[in-house]
Amino acid sequence: MYISQLIAAYTVSQVLSGRNLTVSLPEVQARFPQATPQQRGGATDLSYGALRHYGEIEAYLRCLLDKPLTDERIRALLIVAIYQLLHDEADDFTVVNQAVYAVSQLKKPSPKAWAKGLVNAVLRNLLRKQEQLVTQVQSTEVAVYSYPQWWIDTLKRQYPKDWQAMLSAGNQHPPMTLRVNTNKMSLQAYLQSLVAHQIEAHQTGVQAITLVRPMPVQKLPGFNEGIVSVQDYGAQLAAPLLDVQPGMRVLDACCAPGGKTGHVLELAQLDMTALDSDEQRLQRVKSNLDRLQLTATLKVGDAGASDWHDGQLFDRILADVPCTASGIVRRHVDIKWLRRKADVEAFAGQQARILSNLWKMLAKGGKLLYVTCSVFQEENQRQVDAFLQRHADATLLPLGLGGQMNITHMNDQLIPTDLHDGFFYALLQKH
Ligand SMILES: C[S@@+](CC[C@H](N)C(=O)[O-])C[C@H]1O[C@@H](n2cnc3c(N)ncnc32)[C@H](O)[C@@H]1O
Repeated sequence: MYISQLIAAYTVSQVLSGRNLTVSLPEVQARFPQATPQQRGGATDLSYGALRHYGEIEAYLRCLLDKPLTDERIRALLIVAIYQLLHDEADDFTVVNQAVYAVSQLKKPSPKAWAKGLVNAVLRNLLRKQEQLVTQVQSTEVAVYSYPQWWIDTLKRQYPKDWQAMLSAGNQHPPMTLRVNTNKMSLQAYLQSLVAHQIEAHQTGVQAITLVRPMPVQKLPGFNEGIVSVQDYGAQLAAPLLDVQPGMRVLDACCAPGGKTGHVLELAQLDMTALDSDEQRLQRVKSNLDRLQLTATLKVGDAGASDWHDGQLFDRILADVPCTASGIVRRHVDIKWLRRKADVEAFAGQQARILSNLWKMLAKGGKLLYVTCSVFQEENQRQVDAFLQRHADATLLPLGLGGQMNITHMNDQLIPTDLHDGFFYALLQKH
């Protein structure tokens, strides 16, 4: 267990110093070639779990320490072990003993002799005093909900009825949801093939199936043949909303890794341009489309500029713009601690620039679907309201979200639930 704790501690320490979890975790894992696949899986679970509950863990740690800890590695190891003691099923005393041993295995500079004693004392104190500490810990909202205070305050203001449910949905384990290419196989037939493979699942949406337990994609029947893709149910609304017809010129303006590009192309034969500013991420679009046996013209470029554009207008534009990702925190648990309040305005500015530029590339009568995976209104309804003020040739079309299976929404905003993430959609038509 100590190897998993060590990998998770290094990872958590990197995230808390400002690095992305998806970048840090594989880098740290690579530094432990001796770890077994099970230990690696354990380290992933511990890293995600500790960051998901970091607000609460940090509050316990503050109660248990006499003075702030300066060695970030020891602090991170304590965060991981406290997560295990509070939320994991592992045996408490094994967690403590392994964490103490892990201290001696930290890479250079070697921790001072006091560190082992401190880890031991803090964790044993937690086991002894947890019940007494609960009231003190729960005196702040950051500890109760495990989000930064500015985030909690924003949701309270913007969603006076739903904020608690939204925070809680963001702290759940995300479901694994599949999108069935119903041109290749009906949803019912695919459900039956899952039953035949003893994979428990249920239908969530028209093309969506949610698995009872996540599993490696390679074990999914028909995955390599492109019969299914992994995609959140909320994200699966994008392609049908874009309302494509065969032969249309379509732009997917921020396309990587290509989840929505593939879905749109499954719906009709199109002249599709898939653009992204990140060349490496664009490679993933290529491999995703290859698996689905679909094609698009892939371009590296800035959706806020026109140097990549040949001047021909598009009939449809999907603008799945960069955003705070505040609607998908259960999948990206680091987002809660990496984002700052000022980032919301910064993203909103970038989105406004992209949206105005793409609008010029849309044909008269054409439709642009604006998408974010955020729940902050500055990036969503307020962004669209400001856009409509600036563009007299734009009309906001109704989405009919009320008619969709299992979708919880407030106007055009999907409220995150156990079945889907928190997306925002706005369908704009040019006249
Ligand atoms: C929300 S993700 C897109 C997800 C994608 N549509 C899907 O469904 O798989 C946003 C993407 O925008 C890209 N991006 C960020 N800034 C951009 C820009 N100025 N122009 C084009 N793409 C950009 C990022 O590299 C990222 O891949």
